[in-house]
Amino acid sequence: MAQRKTRVAILFGGRSAEHDVSRASAANIYRSLDPVRYEITLVGITGDGRWVVADAANDKASPALVIPADGPDLVLLPGGRGRALVVEKGTPGVRELAAFDVVFPVLHGPNGEDGTVQGALELADVAYVGARVMGSAASMDKDVAKRLLRDAGLPIVPYITMTAAAPITYEAAVRATGSSDLFVKPANLGSSVGISRARNAAEFAASCELALRYDGKILIERGIAPVREIECAVLEDAAGEVRASELGEIVPAGQHGFYSYEAKYTDASGASLHVPAQLDPALADRIRKLAVEVFGVLCCEGLARVDFFVSGDDVYVNEVNTLPGFTNISMYPKMWEATGLPQPELMDRLIAHALARHARLAKLSFQR
Ligand SMILES: Nc1ncnc2c1ncn2[C@@H]1O[C@H](COP(=O)(O)OP(=O)(O)O)[C@@H](O)[C@H]1O
Ligand SMILES: [Mg+2]
Repeated sequence: MAQRKTRVAILFGGRSAEHDVSRASAANIYRSLDPVRYEITLVGITGDGRWVVADAANDKASPALVIPADGPDLVLLPGGRGRALVVEKGTPGVRELAAFDVVFPVLHGPNGEDGTVQGALELADVAYVGARVMGSAASMDKDVAKRLLRDAGLPIVPYITMTAAAPITYEAAVRATGSSDLFVKPANLGSSVGISRARNAAEFAASCELALRYDGKILIERGIAPVREIECAVLEDAAGEVRASELGEIVPAGQHGFYSYEAKYTDASGASLHVPAQLDPALADRIRKLAVEVFGVLCCEGLARVDFFVSGDDVYVNEVNTLPGFTNISMYPKMWEATGLPQPELMDRLIAHALARHARLAKLSFQR
């Protein structure tokens, strides 16, 4: 007997600086979902937060999906178990779609990867891919994430936080971190936006001013040097087993100094990616174990990319992305490919996890 297809909504775009990266990730995910198993609806979130139905037919050849500015608005019904209404332009009334079985939020950064959209999906009572509200929020805030990791005894880079209301001097930052070479970054952002290095009081003042443009809370960290940037993809299956992939390494090109926004996105040869990373096998094992521990400590679910700094024998957890980049050059799918899991199967597992979790949570008795 033919089973009906699983109805998937891909959410992409969004109100963050990583809007364009999300459109490229969504295109790649869309193309790797098996059309025999899945019936896909594309839902673009515009820069000002409207949810509109997008049409992939226009964009087969492009590396990023397009969000039509005049597309019909889509509204997920609260408590609707995936029921959605589409408000057509220029016609009176609304059209109801067949309920989605699962939503894939392919959104990076604030208002997507931070628990906000996950909260909306909880209220809609629909299955969705990835971390829930707590894991998303705890991983997004670099200060909260580090405090949880430190509490669990996991290695983090020494840092302090600062707000505009309570500024600190360069000397105090040097004392607190044990280094005169500092990295200053917004607490809640990604893509290296607002991050800079400071090696004296004047640079420190400029770095703090820059980071405070993006967030009310900033982190001042010990600069790790020399540093190798190692990443690990973590995946949870439908039964709750958590596995770590082969590792990858990112080597920013020399002229960028560090893995800056330009090295990531605007300079095609801004960094070289190596999968698997060339590391001593014992060190690689230690990092993979750490990645699984980090996933648990930060309440991650489904998937996460855990990023490390390695300096000699020292390993530091740098940050966790609960909705890592999925473009056709992104590390998360590459690392699973290198571990023997092709992207279409990776998609199947993520969706199976989302459906199994939703079914499991529905049986809990906190609801009346
Ligand atoms: N403490 C540090 N020591 C050395 N390099 C750092 C440090 N913090 C950040 N960097 C550099 O800045 C990049 C971006 O920082 P990261 O904390 O990963 O923020 P984002 O979330 O924007 O990716 C890193 O990939 C690395 O190249
Ligand atoms: Mg990073």
